[in-house]
Amino acid sequence: MKILGIETSCDETAAAVVEDGITILTSVVATSAEMHRKYGGIVPEVAARKQVESIIPVLTEAMEGFSKDAIDAIAVTVGPGLIGSLLVGVETAKTLAFTWNKPIIPVNHVIAHMYANFVSSNKQKAISVIFPAISLVVSGGHTELYLMKNEHELTWLGGTLDDAAGEAFDKAARLLGFENRGGPAIAAAAQSYSSNSVRSSQPSASNTILKLPRPLMYDDTLNFSFSGLKTAILREWNKVSVNSLSTADHLQLMTLFSHEIQEAITDVLVFKTMKAVEKYSAKSVLISGGVAANTRLREKFNQQLTAYCLSLIAPSGELCTDNAATIAACAYYQNKQVNWKEITAQPDLSVEVAI
Ligand code: KG4
Ligand code: ZN
Repeated sequence: MKILGIETSCDETAAAVVEDGITILTSVVATSAEMHRKYGGIVPEVAARKQVESIIPVLTEAMEGFSKDAIDAIAVTVGPGLIGSLLVGVETAKTLAFTWNKPIIPVNHVIAHMYANFVSSNKQKAISVIFPAISLVVSGGHTELYLMKNEHELTWLGGTLDDAAGEAFDKAARLLGFENRGGPAIAAAAQSYSSNSVRSSQPSASNTILKLPRPLMYDDTLNFSFSGLKTAILREWNKVSVNSLSTADHLQLMTLFSHEIQEAITDVLVFKTMKAVEKYSAKSVLISGGVAANTRLREKFNQQLTAYCLSLIAPSGELCTDNAATIAACAYYQNKQVNWKEITAQPDLSVEVAI
């Protein structure tokens, strides 16, 4: 079964053709991230306008080599996301479904992220997920934990009460003055962190043994909270007279903060996920979403999971961030076909599902 997936929930415009929920035949992603850079965040109207321009070229490229007859169904993200952006994908999918006479499969963007672990461009790749699995979806807008009983059945276990982990990375990065998009910028700076170099050349920062909170880490739920962390970062950053520092010292302070911010966020994500692993005697752990690209997060998971004789299942970098291959894969496993008249964009679509 070949499914054409369409994704336009945030600032990406993506289309992909996936066979039997596993093999990525084509996958095209266009992003308007560059256009938002100068504003320090995504501007919904700018994103939607760019998506209107990009959707036809992206679809044309994704359908190269396929006739409409080769496609069995059209999958589209209906939510959650930005209303203007979602409408572009949803109305395009409805038009195609009507003119091509194909069924449509509405997809929840957050649920779709976890199916990045089921797809591959390599036909030979076997799915190595052993169930029950715990799945952590950790992106710019969401931090959610699910129990996967099998490829089709899942239950929401907990999620963030306020900011998402990616949002915490992004906001911290803006505060520290990074120009690039949050998470990767903090991850890169944290990698070059060395406590010795910070201590020796940064007298005012040398005494800064930065210890940030790990919010909600030890509570009884499987929920997360990152807004308190953001406040703590702001408080600690404001204690330093950044303007009086040399450029080199300023940079070193940024690496110190980046290191501790990354440690705090990844500690909480791993601890809470492992709590779910124990509670549900999970046989696999899946991570997905943009933050799942974080190397330190993967390292910590691998360290923890070794003790349980489990290994981490994580997508390649380009499948962590928004794309349409995951939408088509999710549609294959969740396969709820509807008539094109029955779908609408749902910006507030709940992620607290039990399917
Ligand atoms: O899944 P995604 O592309 O979009 C949403 O659905 O939100 O995730 C984007 C998020 C951003 O917050 C970005 O800063 C974060 O993922 N991110 C990372 C890394 N790469 C992307 N965070 C930490 N470390 C990374 N290497
Ligand atoms: Zn996403």
